[in-house]
Amino acid sequence: MDLYEYQARDMFEAHGVPVLAGEVADTPELARAAAERVGANSGGVVVVKAQVKAGGRGKAGGVKLARTPDEAAAHAEAILGMDIKGLTVKQVMIAEGAKIAEEYYFSLLLDRSNRSYLAMCSREGGMDIETLAVEHPEKLARIAVDPIAGLDAAKAREIIDAAGFDEADKDALVQVLMRLGEVYAAEDATLVEVNPLVKTEDGQIVALDGKVSLDNNAAFRHPDHEALQDHSATDPLEMLALEKDLNYVKLDGNIGIIGNGAGLVMSTLDVVAYAGEEFTAADGSHPRPANFLDIGGGANAEVMADGLDVIFEDAQVKAVFVNVFGGITSCDAVADGIVAAYDILAKHGKSPKPLVVRLDGNNAELGRSILDGAGLPLLERVDTMDGAARRVAELAALAD
Ligand SMILES: Nc1ncnc2c1ncn2[C@@H]1O[C@H](COP(=O)(O)OP(=O)(O)OP(=O)(O)O)[C@@H](O)[C@H]1O
Ligand SMILES: [Mg+2]
Repeated sequence: MDLYEYQARDMFEAHGVPVLAGEVADTPELARAAAERVGANSGGVVVVKAQVKAGGRGKAGGVKLARTPDEAAAHAEAILGMDIKGLTVKQVMIAEGAKIAEEYYFSLLLDRSNRSYLAMCSREGGMDIETLAVEHPEKLARIAVDPIAGLDAAKAREIIDAAGFDEADKDALVQVLMRLGEVYAAEDATLVEVNPLVKTEDGQIVALDGKVSLDNNAAFRHPDHEALQDHSATDPLEMLALEKDLNYVKLDGNIGIIGNGAGLVMSTLDVVAYAGEEFTAADGSHPRPANFLDIGGGANAEVMADGLDVIFEDAQVKAVFVNVFGGITSCDAVADGIVAAYDILAKHGKSPKPLVVRLDGNNAELGRSILDGAGLPLLERVDTMDGAARRVAELAALAD
């Protein structure tokens, strides 16, 4: 899960990272009131910042300086509703204005290929760190951080030395880096990035921007992180799937995919995408997978009903492919699940969509005969994976 800047700011503050006052607002009036409070210690100067989970907000016109509460309200009016990289701005943060002397860069992230953490730091931070990394890689210090030891004082100093800071600033920077390392470890983050980390005119080191990604696999250790989730930005079907504990990812095609096991589902996506090239819908497009849904090992009736429910709800889905290889869960149990799922859906007044089922593996024959006997509407059985993929692509093309 990625955090909004204001959430990162609050998290930094909780771990003792120096930040400036900041409040979120979703109307110009609230922005004006926030600017009155936030600007109290900065001569009225505040910065109005678009809250979207994308970089480059400054360049897109989403970060604006205001000298009075009225000016803050006017900037908020302009920034709220703005589109930045396809994301609509629904909130702004009113941040205390800093008197910036220098802008630096710092990040700590998970380095999977080296089974380590990686710290990156530069004296030249600000808005163009990506360009700096390409054109002047020597100005971006890269230091591996041992996940067991973490970002301790010695490591923080090594990073600061490598980035070539002035002696006078080093002690303060080491303290801030250690606090950021604490955010990373204590919150189970996979990324903590501060761009810019600034030195103010009076010599303070302050995090002016923050980007934090949290490791969803550690969510069970952080019940408080649930409140950071922005449900309004989550796809409603992904929410529904989440509630039902399904492993679901929405894609942009029109063929619903259900399988048991991530490996099988992934290869099903490939086979369906490949088969889709053979067929063309009326609008000239080729059918493609609409989602990834892994019902896992326990493909019982309820799980199957939940899965079909989520996929039938997707208006983009024209046809569905259920691809199951019976193992611990045998095919007859899956077939029973599909029959029961149809009952459940019918009870909720929901109508089915064209469905192609391929059952193989443990008790395949029994499973197939259960389906054949049930005479479910719009359901077809195809016994090979390629054949089933081709048939579902054809049905999707026809339906479009
Ligand atoms: N509180 C502040 N006071 C003064 N200037 C600020 C403040 N916050 C940001 N700025 C200025 O605006 C610039 C852009 O702000 P910020 O880095 O927060 O947004 P951004 O452009 O979206 O960055 P990124 O691409 O890293 O997400 C900063 O480099 C800094 O010069
Ligand atoms: Mg930034």
